[in-house]
Amino acid sequence: MKPVRKAVFPVAGLGTRFLPATKAVPKEMLPVVDKPLIQYAVDEARAAGIEQMIFVTGRGKAAIEDYFDIPYELQATLNEKGKHDILDLIADTRLAPGHAAFIRQQEPLGLGHAVWCARDLIGDEPFAVLLPDELLWNPASPCLKQMTETYAAKGGNVVSVLEVPEAHTDRYGIVDPGAADGAVTEVRGLVEKPKTNPPSRLAVVGRYILQPEIMELLAKGERGAGNEIQLTDAMAKLIGVQPFHAQTFDGVRHDCGDKAGFIQANVALALERADLADDVRAFLKTL
Ligand code: G1P
Repeated sequence: MKPVRKAVFPVAGLGTRFLPATKAVPKEMLPVVDKPLIQYAVDEARAAGIEQMIFVTGRGKAAIEDYFDIPYELQATLNEKGKHDILDLIADTRLAPGHAAFIRQQEPLGLGHAVWCARDLIGDEPFAVLLPDELLWNPASPCLKQMTETYAAKGGNVVSVLEVPEAHTDRYGIVDPGAADGAVTEVRGLVEKPKTNPPSRLAVVGRYILQPEIMELLAKGERGAGNEIQLTDAMAKLIGVQPFHAQTFDGVRHDCGDKAGFIQANVALALERADLADDVRAFLKTL
């Protein structure tokens, strides 16, 4: 079984839900406490042994590319001033030379199309997809790491899932579940944003380990929910052909594509920080 070495980060979205903040700043660069959202996803990938980060960007997203570059002037200035703690912090965000690739999705044709744009960089290897809007928080056992362990045992394709309220099933890719073994459930079917009769309340929460054959299915460009090329529809066609499992995420999910979820993530992560928790808690108590 080939190891998962590459990850795709679809970051071409316009971020309309966060306007006007996202008029000039990509939504993936909005900070949760003091790190941009994209850094959490990249750190999660690194913790799972991913080496090659592939960002599918679009117009107006240059800040993401600059962020993963070496900030030469900033480093020189900090060095002169002897600010070594801050230099260490910045060094932690650096990717190895040649390990970050940026390609553009020229038209907003859907998540499936964004992933397909990375096909030549993926080649014939399994790969991960991480949607940075979803901050899946378990520092001791990051989500993609949990999934690579399942992948090592089962092979094929693995998606992370969580139970959502029945009323919210029309916002997600929903799993039709088969036999369950602890946190791992066989996937019998997948439906993108079902308007009626959801097969379960198990929603896909933005983390995928996929086999490269999905690219051939995405290449057909078939439209699904919202008239977009859906990753879910291509995944559904792999069920029965390759192993397909859902792994219930053990951790806390913050939906940072949503304003309330984004604010909650900031509060929750600040309360976990030794340097911030007391001040933030004291302020919250005054509300
Ligand atoms: C995408 C996927 C959906 C998944 C969701 C998780 O939808 O298409 O299957 O459940 O991400 O956040 P989007 O939120 O981009 O509409």
